[in-house]
This record gives sequence, structure tokens and C-alpha cells, in this order.
Amino acid sequence: MTHRAAIIFRDGLTQFIQVEQNEKLLDAAFRHGIQLPLDCREGVCATCRGFCESGTIEMEYVDDEALSASEREQGYMLACQTTLTSPGSFYFDVDSSICNISQQHYRGQVSALTLLSDTVATLEITLEEGQPELHYLPGQYARIQIPGSKETRAYSYASASAQSAVVRFLVRLLPSGVMSDYLRQRCRVGDSIDFTAPFGAFYLREVKRPLLFVAGGTGLSAFLSMLESLAEQSDVQQPIALYYGVNRESEISEVERLDSLAERLGNFSYQVVVSDPGSAWQGKKGWVTQALESHLFQQPFDAYLCGPPPMIEATCSWLSSQPVAEHKVYFERFVSS
Ligand SMILES: Cc1cc2nc3c(=O)[nH]c(=O)nc-3n(C[C@H](O)[C@H](O)[C@H](O)COP(=O)(O)OP(=O)(O)OC[C@H]3O[C@@H](n4cnc5c(N)ncnc54)[C@H](O)[C@@H]3O)c2cc1C
Ligand code: FES
Repeated sequence: MTHRAAIIFRDGLTQFIQVEQNEKLLDAAFRHGIQLPLDCREGVCATCRGFCESGTIEMEYVDDEALSASEREQGYMLACQTTLTSPGSFYFDVDSSICNISQQHYRGQVSALTLLSDTVATLEITLEEGQPELHYLPGQYARIQIPGSKETRAYSYASASAQSAVVRFLVRLLPSGVMSDYLRQRCRVGDSIDFTAPFGAFYLREVKRPLLFVAGGTGLSAFLSMLESLAEQSDVQQPIALYYGVNRESEISEVERLDSLAERLGNFSYQVVVSDPGSAWQGKKGWVTQALESHLFQQPFDAYLCGPPPMIEATCSWLSSQPVAEHKVYFERFVSS
């Protein structure tokens, strides 16, 4: 029996490998051409130290000097001593370049383009035959090369992370921009399109406590990927609350998908918050942080924030100023390339 493992590096690059039963993670990584740092191979030096983000593992010998009992409890592990008893993901605090890793390149074709409003589009890409298998963690992103230019832009996957030849992205259209102009003016179904992937340290960790998701605009994309991936699992019981902030009603996207996810995931609810609504808007108004209520976050929880930097900063300062329970914050800023 083999288990799939995601190896995530400090620079966000991620590689997926298959680990055989009883095979050490370090050896499996080597077999796949990934040279994780190592020295003693005996569980003593801690050079191969990483962090188990999800999954279950067993470790053979771990010297107390290499990892304390409390570090082991937190999830730290030694790759040279670790075998997997389930699929898992592992973070190593080193850059991919020193592990002999290069980015994976993909070629696909635009299989659908939908302009949801004058400022938001969904782009669907279907991989050409013969491409390498596409793997990513929900929340990660790809760098898409914009046809007709040498420019690339980062876009978070908006589809479930289960291996598939079809991927979707939710893209904000600026009044003028390299990708925005391509999508609005030139993009046609059938266009060839290249991208590299996967990237990003913003991905869904093992769900062990309630989740707060805060999306600004097309930051929703990463949450669509996370929610779709969760809906494909049957064992997620923790409550999930999504707050989705936009400037105007015309920017609200993918509500049907959110409604269907709420049906599939009985523990998921969402609220749309519009900062500059028209007079007909009946829902929540204001900045997304104004809709958050501290009394709902009295149990330890994990917060995931995705979208424009000002929204992320505002949410982080709300979380640190309010009487909420202990929590971890993960975020992805949509900075311009
Ligand atoms: C990790 C990561 C993930 C991302 N994921 C997504 C995603 O899923 N969906 C998505 O829509 N975007 C996402 N972005 C942003 C995206 O990569 C592009 O920056 C954005 O789409 C603009 O590209 P463009 O080529 O149309 O404009 P550009 O040619 O890059 O920019 C045109 C002009 O607009 C300015 N500009 C760029 N971005 C903004 C902005 N947000 N607000 C105001 N002005 C801006 C630029 O400074 C420039 O002057 C992500 C960014 C990062 C770093
Ligand atoms: S290589 Fe020394 S502890 Fe793993």
C-alpha cells in the first residue's frame, strides 16, 4: 500500500510523491528526485526536521536532542525516521532550490470563459493529453502565462484539489491589466495556455477545530477549492463560517456554488458583505470585519484569510483586538505581480 505525501517548501513550491508502506519519507523523497537536507539519517541531528501538517505518521527513533516531546506533540517530525500510515502533507523550512526541485510546467486549453460581471470572470483550463499529473493542495495557486505576452500572473485554484485534468480560476478584471485585457478582449475557447504549479503556503491544514474563512473579492477562489475538497470528504464535522466581502453587488460571484456547498456540507454557512451597496441590497453592509461577531469565536479555531492586503490587515487587527478564543491565522495576499 502506498500513501500520497505533499512536500511543501519555504518558498511555497510543493511536490507530491508516493510513499511505500514502511518506506521512510526521506527515502521516498529521494526516489522522486527531492534531496531533502540530511546528515546522520539516524534521528539524532534534526537536519531533516519538518512539520506534519496533516495525516498520521510513525517515527522509528527520535533522539530527545533532535525533537523534544512537546515538539513531537505539536507535529514536528524527522523525515529520516518517518513512515506514513495515511496520506499527509509535510512542511520543510528550506527553499526548494536547495533540494534540487524545479517547477512543473503544464499546457492546457481554455475550455470555458464566463464573464460573471464586468469585473469578475471564471476561467476554465483543460490540460492537453500527455501532461504530467496535476496535484495541488486546496488554497494553493498556479502561475499562468498570459497568451501573447511573456507575463505571468498568480491565480488561486477555484476547483477541488482531487486530481483532475480540468481546473478553474476566479479572476478579477481590472479596468486595464495584462491578464484582464487578455480575458476581456482576446481570450477564446481553444486558446493554448501554459502555467506552472503548484505554489503557496496558504493551503487547508487538517481540520481539527472550527474554521473561519474571510474572502475579499476573488479571494473567494481559494475557499471554493477548500470547500469543494472538504465536500468530497465525508468526515468533516467542524463548523465552517465564510464571510465574503465585495465592494458592489455586481461583484458577488459563485453564489449557486456556495449554496450547493452549504447543502453538501451541513456544517457550512456563509454571509456576503457589501461595502458600497445600492439601495435595494438587503444583506450585510460595510467592511467584512464589521460583520464578524466575536461571540461566535469563543472556541479555539483556525482562521484563513484571502484577498486584497488591506482586507487581510483589517481582519488580522480585528482578530487581535477582540475577545476571541485562541486561534491560528493563515493568509494569502493578492498582491500585484
Ligand atoms: C498568490 C496570489 C494569488 C492570487 N490569486 C488571485 C485569484 O485567485 N484571483 C484574482 O483575481 N487575482 C489573484 N491574484 C492577483 C493576480 O495575480 C493579478 O495581480 C491580478 O489579477 C491583476 O493582473 P492583471 O494582469 O490583470 O493586471 P496587471 O497588469 O498586473 O496590473 C495592471 C495595473 O493594475 C494594478 N493592480 C494590480 N492588481 C491590482 C489590484 N488588486 N487592485 C488594484 N490595482 C491593481 C497594477 O499595479 C497595475 O498598475 C493573486 C495574486 C497572488 C500574489
Ligand atoms: S538526518 Fe539526522 S535526524 Fe534525520
